[in-house]
Amino acid sequence: MSDEEFRAAMSRLAAGVVLVTAQEPPLAEGGPRGEDVGMTATAFMSVSLDPPLVLVSLREGSRMDDLLDEQPLWGVSLLSEAQRHVAGRFAMKGRISDRLLFADLPYARGELCGAPLMGGALATLECRTESRVPAGDHTLVIGRVLRAQVPPVEGGPLTYFRGRYRQLGN
Ligand SMILES: Cc1cc2nc3c(=O)[nH]c(=O)nc-3n(C[C@H](O)[C@H](O)[C@H](O)COP(=O)(O)O)c2cc1C
Repeated sequence: MSDEEFRAAMSRLAAGVVLVTAQEPPLAEGGPRGEDVGMTATAFMSVSLDPPLVLVSLREGSRMDDLLDEQPLWGVSLLSEAQRHVAGRFAMKGRISDRLLFADLPYARGELCGAPLMGGALATLECRTESRVPAGDHTLVIGRVLRAQVPPVEGGPLTYFRGRYRQLGN
């Protein structure tokens, strides 16, 4: 099977889009807080209810994979159809800094994880890594959900299907 065939098949799996966020540790103890980092992801799922676990699959060597190797606390924002620009922004390759990417977006800092939780998201989660499982060229990061919130946001989810962002058709 070729990469092309695999990609084409998996592009037919409709997926919700999330923004995974985490804060870099401060450079020096007691120093200014580290930079916020975000990554658009569709390889995200609920795993277990008791205990509450979720999973995200991160490309090995990506900035978020490297960051979550040292930062156990992270956030997840389940994006709404009005947040296509957020998804596009945090999927850009070869970014040096995410500081400006957050600057004009509404977010609140998670009380437990310290990561940005996006305003306008359908739901937000605060997580702590339970285990990291190498899987091919990705790392499966399994996190315990410390807090889940459902803000009163109207509208449907942002989805991704056949290489394009979509809205639910109903
Ligand atoms: C719709 C969409 C879904 C994505 N899902 C994932 C994912 O689940 N896991 C992942 O590692 N990268 C995923 N990516 C790619 C990352 O968003 C992208 O590689 C990253 O933000 C760029 O930073 P990097 O150069 O450190 O990889 C996705 C991109 C898009 C557009």
